[in-house]
Amino acid sequence: MKILVTGGAGYIGSHTLVELLEAGHEVVVLDNLCNGAREALARVEQITGQPVSFVEGDVRDRVQLDALFDWHDIEAVIHFAGLKAVGESVAKPLAYYDNNVAGSLNLCQAMAAAGVFRLVFSSSATVYGPEAPVPYTETLPRGRATNPYGTSKAMVEQLLEDLCRADERWSVSLLRYFNPIGAHPSGLIGEDPQGVPNNLMPFIAQVAVGRRSHLAVFGDDYPTPDGSCVRDYLHVVDLAAGHVRALEAMSSPGVATYNLGTGQGYSVLEMVAAFTAVTGQAVPYQIAPRRDGDLAAFWADAAKAERELGWRALHGLEAMMADTWRWQYHNPKGYRLRVTDAV
Ligand code: NAD
Ligand code: UD1
Repeated sequence: MKILVTGGAGYIGSHTLVELLEAGHEVVVLDNLCNGAREALARVEQITGQPVSFVEGDVRDRVQLDALFDWHDIEAVIHFAGLKAVGESVAKPLAYYDNNVAGSLNLCQAMAAAGVFRLVFSSSATVYGPEAPVPYTETLPRGRATNPYGTSKAMVEQLLEDLCRADERWSVSLLRYFNPIGAHPSGLIGEDPQGVPNNLMPFIAQVAVGRRSHLAVFGDDYPTPDGSCVRDYLHVVDLAAGHVRALEAMSSPGVATYNLGTGQGYSVLEMVAAFTAVTGQAVPYQIAPRRDGDLAAFWADAAKAERELGWRALHGLEAMMADTWRWQYHNPKGYRLRVTDAV
């Protein structure tokens, strides 16, 4: 299948390209590089030995999308492109609704005009909202998101459900990611956050590599076994494989929603201890106040993806930690400079 991957130069997108190419698909990437790297695509080519067609552009640019669909015989789209920083979304809601909602709407319009009706969308566990009981199952209603990023994901889910109800040519998979971490085992691609990382694992890795003095653990007074928050961390390679399964399983019209998680929660303090145990690297930390908007604990009920897609997470915490460290160690400044390139 020839697949358009929007946001393919980003973290999850680049790992998904590897899985798609290794499964025998052809890929075309559309990315405006606002948070992605051209170098990531070169490294995907290095890992797979296969070419990646790249179009530098924006999903909000209809003229460019039409030209892309004209030029390439696209059969399906995986839509990663979007903004994802929760705090920034509170400060800049218009930027988030524009990119995430208007961008998705524009993409769907261009797809319909081109006669392409298969779409896999990057959603998030955040759409369950703060009141949902754990573990989260797909049968729960969407909750009230606590920030514009979460609301933008819920809005696009709703838009796609309405679209599928109105037009039965559409086949859509909504993939609700839990907490993706880790990197490709080659150490060639991984997460490369700009500025101070918002997320836990990139922060831990940057402390270990000496870029930051210590980790702030946001809260140790939650109602969890050790007082720190609990999340369902899954290996990005497993998450990437979930996209290939979702795409290949798409046969009937309508929307199918899947949690992609492991079903197992770990606390922040357990994650720090596991990183040190696996890599031998110390991670100094200090207990800090709770972060606004954080939930105490959530994890996935991942049974539906296993039942219907034959997918389940195969990598455990040890691989997540070892692969995070391999990537960070060999690429201390992300895609900007590799240790082995320095003279
Ligand atoms: P990322 O920032 O690494 O990748 C997103 C890519 O999209 C980047 O390469 C960026 O340059 C590109 N992009 C952004 N806006 C664009 C636009 N308007 N047009 C074209 N390209 C654009 O993020 P990621 O972690 O790989 O996340 C991918 C998707 O998964 C996002 O939609 C994100 O919201 C969603 N998601 C991520 C997580 C997570 O923990 N990383 C969790 C849940 C959902
Ligand atoms: C966050 C977003 C979520 C988004 C996801 C992926 C919030 C409230 N939620 O999820 O909407 O889908 O990222 O992008 O921002 N932690 C620390 N110290 C740090 C960083 C994190 O203690 O420096 C803790 C957090 O309090 C949390 C856990 O580590 O308990 C995981 O944090 P993070 O990686 O940011 O993911 P989420 O908050 O689960």
